[in-house]
Amino acid sequence: MSVIYRQYSGEGDLPYIMDLVQSELSEPYVIYTFRYFLHQWPHLSFLAYPSDPATSAPIGVIVCKQSMHRETANRGYIAMLSVSKNWRKRGIASTLVKNSLDAMKEDGVEEIVLETEYDNSAALSLYESLGFIREKRLYRFYLNGKDAFRLVLTVPPTYSDDGSGHNWIVL
Ligand SMILES: CC(C)(COP(=O)(O)OP(=O)(O)OC[C@H]1O[C@@H](n2cnc3c(N)ncnc32)[C@H](O)[C@@H]1OP(=O)(O)O)[C@@H](O)C(=O)NCCC(=O)NCCS
Repeated sequence: MSVIYRQYSGEGDLPYIMDLVQSELSEPYVIYTFRYFLHQWPHLSFLAYPSDPATSAPIGVIVCKQSMHRETANRGYIAMLSVSKNWRKRGIASTLVKNSLDAMKEDGVEEIVLETEYDNSAALSLYESLGFIREKRLYRFYLNGKDAFRLVLTVPPTYSDDGSGHNWIVL
């Protein structure tokens, strides 16, 4: 069955997003944390659905933000990513990350960062397959006492060819 992707579309998506995230991530996020991201950056969050119209619940979600970091870099941040167990290893998480990355590029993102548990081999392989590198290890970063790796992806500027012979950096 194929999978359909769409942007976050409002509070009606929230219970599904919370279900997907809370069942899979160790951090106990409260509803205000979800709203902090989803209300300010709704265009950076995406949901995945089976194409079967009988299924109304999403099977994957990504939640992100984007802002200036120390007035030096336009930074994207992946806060949450989760795919239902029955739907894993089909490229759904990769597509969700690429959707958010493309949306961040529209707003001139220069680097994208995230944290993941140091022993989350699925997440580490996923992000490293997309070009992220390990920047540092954060000691006892999570409430469960586990360390995290901070991963970072540097995004090169996008050039536009308008036929004039000059290449313009798209800001
Ligand atoms: C991590 C997670 C989001 C991956 O979702 P997914 O849809 O299965 O990932 P994809 O199918 O897009 O995988 C893309 C690549 O990631 C890597 N990968 C994904 N799952 C993996 C696993 N279990 N073991 C090793 N590598 C894995 C592989 O390189 C894979 O490419 P391949 O299929 O060509 O080998 C999913 O396992 C999940 O929801 N885990 C629980 C929540 C979580 O850990 N979120 C991330 C926290 S930041």
